[in-house]
Amino acid sequence: MQITPSILNADFANLGAEIARISSADWVHVDVMDNHFVPNLTFGPTMVEALSRATEIPLDAHLMIEDPDRWAPAYAEAGARSVTFHVEAAKAPVRLARELRKQGARASMALKPATPIEPYADLLPELDMVLVMTVEPGFGGQKFLDLCLPKIRRTRELIERTGGEIWLQVDGGVSMETIERCAEAGADVFVAGSAVYSAADPDQMVKALRAKAEA
Ligand code: DX5
Ligand code: ZN
Repeated sequence: MQITPSILNADFANLGAEIARISSADWVHVDVMDNHFVPNLTFGPTMVEALSRATEIPLDAHLMIEDPDRWAPAYAEAGARSVTFHVEAAKAPVRLARELRKQGARASMALKPATPIEPYADLLPELDMVLVMTVEPGFGGQKFLDLCLPKIRRTRELIERTGGEIWLQVDGGVSMETIERCAEAGADVFVAGSAVYSAADPDQMVKALRAKAEA
């Protein structure tokens, strides 16, 4: 069970210090948004490169961008150890996943709440992780969508059938109230933004979330 705090709800004027407040995190989740795939704009590869120099914790880049086929490799190049592209935006997901792996990054594919996993089942062996979004991507602090739980379950089943070690990440509205549901459905990597950064002690919250997921 891995906890991946999202810095989307952290203080952007002090990101180095904000990351230092989550030293127990397994990964730092960096939400890249381009104002096209989602109606919000955040970081680019230059910021990822700076963040990778600011922490020992590996970076998990979640690319909510159009044309990841063209732009995703720059994030691996910038030091992200895991790069997640949205399958709704990718033109050639297999080629892209292979390219990311060749660069030494973990290759990961994300699904928005309305995107089913079944059409992509055959792609699983090309991937190191699947991200099942549990809110519509674009903003932190949204309410967890229970309607995504059956898809987490089906994705876990499909992963088991491959026999491979593919991680299943959930992202959106994950908190002390919802994390158990996700773990029970088969998730093993948990992104939490507002739950971590609205806590008085973010690192304590990381530990509490992990304990709850493992319970
Ligand atoms: C939403 C982002 C999430 C977001 C999660 O588009 O992908 O990573 O930061 O924030 P919370 O945990 O507040 O839903
Ligand atoms: Zn995210």
